[in-house]
Amino acid sequence: FSAFLTDSFGRQHSYLRISLTEKCNLRCQYCMPEEGVPLTPKVDLLTTEEILMLARLFVKEGVDKIRLTGGEPLIRPDVVDIVAQLHRLEGLRTIGVTTNGINLARLLPQLQKAGLNAINISLDTLVPAKFEFIVRRKGFHKVMEGLHKAIELGYSPVKVNCVVMRGLNEDELLDFVALTEGLPLDVRFIEYMPFDGNKWNFKKMVSYKEMLDTLRQRWPELEKLPEEESSTAKSFKIPGFRGHVSFITSMSEHFCGTCNRLRITADGNLKVCLFGNAEVSLRDHLRAGASEEELLSIIGAAVGRKKRQHAGMFNISQMKNRPMILIELFLMLQ
Ligand code: GTP
Ligand code: 5AD
Ligand code: SF4
Repeated sequence: FSAFLTDSFGRQHSYLRISLTEKCNLRCQYCMPEEGVPLTPKVDLLTTEEILMLARLFVKEGVDKIRLTGGEPLIRPDVVDIVAQLHRLEGLRTIGVTTNGINLARLLPQLQKAGLNAINISLDTLVPAKFEFIVRRKGFHKVMEGLHKAIELGYSPVKVNCVVMRGLNEDELLDFVALTEGLPLDVRFIEYMPFDGNKWNFKKMVSYKEMLDTLRQRWPELEKLPEEESSTAKSFKIPGFRGHVSFITSMSEHFCGTCNRLRITADGNLKVCLFGNAEVSLRDHLRAGASEEELLSIIGAAVGRKKRQHAGMFNISQMKNRPMILIELFLMLQ
């Protein structure tokens, strides 16, 4: 495996997440403010050629999985073409997308033909009116249509990302699990994470342990599945059910030790950690005419600086001027 993509803790980064756009056609409360986010001027965003050039370089060095993210990746007009071109890269085994599902039913046949082979859909509620409240837009039925289209076209499992928030959707856990009885879904309950300005509050977070207790009361036979290497999720299954149920424990049990991810933002920054600040602008180096070797050594240096674990939640006790609420959380999770 490439030394450039191996960090000082021996983690090999074979999974690249590429953001195709900062824009989104929804305004999920936990992600974006009502007015949207300030957008980078178009000239500063990576062009399709730049995305493909970088993808080729990373795949040559050992990346075998690329996930297209956003904003909402399926609003980029040339997303099908990007998938088709990625599909030609030898050594790339998985091309995935994380989408809000709004454009999925319409685009999926073309995306599948182009080579898309993994789909994660964000869906936080099964109640249409609540959907509109959470995402501040209409579209519940479109998302459900996308989800069923993905199943119909043979994606298995179709992953469903559900951010669990107390007082909002934690009463729907059992309904989500019930969906896995007949459908090949992997329903993934995600601990609500604080991001800048997303109105996160410690009381709104429902921990993995609490969710698991709720599920166990209803289905004591819930079975833990073996952990997949470098997965963000801990997975379970109810015997006899077609699908799985998983938990993404970003807050209570971080999974940094097996992290294999790198990210490229829509404006071309390489981020070695979800919680870290941007490390380096690959775009600027590309546009300044850097050679592949130069780019690789820049990437290698950033990967080399990657920390053992994120400071998101776990070093809070050592942070100065930490908000009281975070101290409470830290103590609760110990
Ligand atoms: P798979 O490739 O199917 O395993 O998906 P994924 O979990 O890697 O990605 P997805 O885009 O579906 O994200 C699901 C949740 O995991 C989101 O809440 C992300 O914020 C979180 N997540 C993704 N990557 C990381 C990471 O590197 N660190 C942490 N802490 N959380 C992450
Ligand atoms: N906490 C946890 N997960 C989040 N996502 C977006 N914002 C948050 C948050 N604050 C999830 C969405 C999407 C994935 C890419 O990230 O559910 O599926
Ligand atoms: Fe954020 Fe995704 Fe919701 Fe869009 S659909 S607002 S990117 S979480």
